Amino acid sequence: METVKIALLGLGTVGTGVYKVLKAQQEEIPHKVGAKIQLKKVLVRNTEKASRKLDDPSILMTEWKSILEDPEISIVVEVMGGIEPARRYILDALHAGKSVVTANKDLLASHGKELMDAAAETKSDLLFEAAVAGGIPIIRPLKECLAGNHISEVMGIVNGTTNFILTKMAEEGMEFQEALALATELGYAEADPTADIEGLDAARKVAILASIAFHSRVTFDDVYTEGITKITATDIRYAREMGRDIKLLGVAKETPEGIEARVQPMLIPSTHPLASVRDSFNAVFVHGDAVDDTMFYGRGAGELPTASAVVGDILDAVRNMVFGCRGRIGCTCYKEIPLKKMED
Ligand code: NAP
Ligand code: HSE
Repeated sequence: METVKIALLGLGTVGTGVYKVLKAQQEEIPHKVGAKIQLKKVLVRNTEKASRKLDDPSILMTEWKSILEDPEISIVVEVMGGIEPARRYILDALHAGKSVVTANKDLLASHGKELMDAAAETKSDLLFEAAVAGGIPIIRPLKECLAGNHISEVMGIVNGTTNFILTKMAEEGMEFQEALALATELGYAEADPTADIEGLDAARKVAILASIAFHSRVTFDDVYTEGITKITATDIRYAREMGRDIKLLGVAKETPEGIEARVQPMLIPSTHPLASVRDSFNAVFVHGDAVDDTMFYGRGAGELPTASAVVGDILDAVRNMVFGCRGRIGCTCYKEIPLKKMED
């Protein structure tokens, strides 16, 4: 049986989760995809810090070239985060004929077109299920299972850190900073949590969802964004007294004036299904003309839930390799749809 060799770029929260899930699934993987998987190399900046996380620390390295130029490595899994050098590494890998799996929503929301074009040109897989809503399957359902629909709206809670903070403030009277520190400790927050609390992380996810749902190009800059830093414990208490909850919602919908894309805290009735989405859980509603309303719910952040999505993509890439159908994500036929102007 074939052994597919892969490299992991990053061994932080998500990378460590991927390592654990691959190890736990070792016996089952060949039955699922018809090949074994070997993690051959792991790229980090600080090998000493990372060495205690692996059974065999000799696979750690700091040189991208030794992965790029290794012809045995056919899948690169980017879980480092940030724009550079992640962008360059992914483009290098695609041009070298390697499949790429990434969880990097910052990069996809700003340079998605460049990456998709490279994947299409090289006929390589570029898979990114973990980039939106952590462990919840939403990218593949939008691209594949719901492809028979005209989708007119995608909305929901797409940031685990802020939902965790709002839940702790509402239910346990926790202070904002204390709840944020706990979310960081639990591995939900970004390396710079400003991206979470200012709504930027959610806006990146809305840009990715809108681009896929509407076959268009919506970037991070197109999304009107407000975070939760101005929400006080008093606001939350008054809202609850009125039978309302405050949630940070991301919305992308078609309007007569074009695509409306926004992230902002909103008051929702406490009986609304989104009000029951607590802690780091996320939920995404999708409305399609044939299917009607659908809702996807689950853990939106954290080590193992995110690794679940990344490993699902790795297995998909392996299956595509084994059965010879790589590059099926590479459609770059976008529609030009105007963006609705959003007022402050
Ligand atoms: P993290 O804990 O900060 O880990 C980042 C890892 O990447 C570290 O091992 C770091 O190595 C390595 N790294 C960073 N820059 C590098 C470089 N230039 N060269 C080599 N290694 C480098 O981040 P994370 O939470 O795992 O997130 C990783 C990615 O997944 C991000 O794109 C994030 O947005 C996305 N994501 C995260 C979650 C989540 O719940 N955490 C969920 C979905 C998606 P050193 O420690 O040696 O610097
Ligand atoms: N920081 C992100 C969140 C990680 O809290 O949702 C998952 O994308």
